[in-house]
Amino acid sequence: MKMTVGIALVGCGTVGGATALLLQEQRDSIRFRTGVDLDLRYIVDKNLTYARKLGLSESILTESLEKALSDSKVSVVIELVGGTGFAKTLILQAFAAGKHVVTANKALLAYHGPELFAAAKKAEVALAFEASCGGGIPIVRAFYDGLTANTIDAVYGIVNGTCNHILSEMIQKDSTYDEALKGAQAAGFAEADPSLDVNGGDSAHKIAIMGAMAFGSPIPLDTIPVKGIANLEAEDVLFGGEMGYVVKLIASAVRGKKGVFVRVEPAFIPMDHPLAWVSGSFNAISVYGSAVGHTMYYGRGAGGTPTASAVVSDIISLGLGTYPVQFKSMDFWNPDKKPLKLQEPGDIHRRYYLKLRVLDRPGNLGRITTVLGENAISVSSILQHEIPEATDGEVLENTPPEAGVIEPTVPIVITTHRVKESQLLSAIEDIEALEDVYPGTTVLPILEEHPEFRYLNT
Ligand code: HSE
Repeated sequence: MKMTVGIALVGCGTVGGATALLLQEQRDSIRFRTGVDLDLRYIVDKNLTYARKLGLSESILTESLEKALSDSKVSVVIELVGGTGFAKTLILQAFAAGKHVVTANKALLAYHGPELFAAAKKAEVALAFEASCGGGIPIVRAFYDGLTANTIDAVYGIVNGTCNHILSEMIQKDSTYDEALKGAQAAGFAEADPSLDVNGGDSAHKIAIMGAMAFGSPIPLDTIPVKGIANLEAEDVLFGGEMGYVVKLIASAVRGKKGVFVRVEPAFIPMDHPLAWVSGSFNAISVYGSAVGHTMYYGRGAGGTPTASAVVSDIISLGLGTYPVQFKSMDFWNPDKKPLKLQEPGDIHRRYYLKLRVLDRPGNLGRITTVLGENAISVSSILQHEIPEATDGEVLENTPPEAGVIEPTVPIVITTHRVKESQLLSAIEDIEALEDVYPGTTVLPILEEHPEFRYLNT
């Protein structure tokens, strides 16, 4: 049986353009393989220059959203406008007109997921969002379909292609941060406002969505501690590399005894960890289920065609009628639900990398390790390189200018065994109170592999 789906695509940028082309190129093949005929009836945008440049048929280009929404043959509206303003209005208008909506808009879902779910359910339509997390990776389906037999213990991974591209270019090609960011923008990975990528905001949007799906309740965005990569120092990337680690921006939602630990932060990954070799615009997400153990989802997390792949798969599921049935049972963004109970941030136990900036004087290393010992923190390794001797009157590279001294500081890198974060931060305060230690210690977690089947054992 052939099912025809009339489609209005709103927002013809990188992903919108790739989606329109994919719908054209694959129409016959998809109809043959699935029985669903994807009829792209409108491409709506205020500025259609890019659509014309792609050679999309003039007959379907329009600036009028009303025209598209009032066409009874349109049953699915694709929102690829982005942002949380007009995108939200248009989705609510589409629901009110009885249309299903497909969106890639993680910011909108992270802020307004419960409200949008409620509006869709009230209008008896569905909101599909596979493209919102991990680009082309079918991670949303994993939660609502493939893994439904499991209680989820943890979801964590690399979910921002721009940051991963920047870090990979800096590590593998010695590029500067700015060069690497420009490359990500040119390749179409970065958000319209790339600060959302590099400050961790985009990853927070995605973990708010995936965490809610994994643990069954909303995670308000303002409860997620977020640190991006913009302040990472190249020196730390190098020191970490010497010690066998690679730095990645990690988004996590991990079940703990007193709540779920949710965070976005740069972290060191041991070279033999499965996330260590995920490079460039690729994303990888580990999900731990109570029955299945560790599963990992890998693919291109950004860019036009990978994201279009997820968008079109949602339209096919809507056409087949499978997704609307599943959507009815999705309850994690029920606005009547309490937000997810989160763990106190300082309660997390893990290993850490510290870089202290210290005057190069006798006894300082001993004084620092004594403070760590007094705080019951066990040192795993120490790295300190020789620095050039200062000559009279010379100000060396590592000398803090405000110090008004010619004496150089030396970076001392320490990795710890597992320690509670609040205990570590309090020890660092004590260390920075020492006479020869400067403030601004670099603290990065070291990510170990999550244990399998932990949920069953707690
Ligand atoms: N800007 C995002 C990224 C695109 O770099 O991963 C996909 O959400």
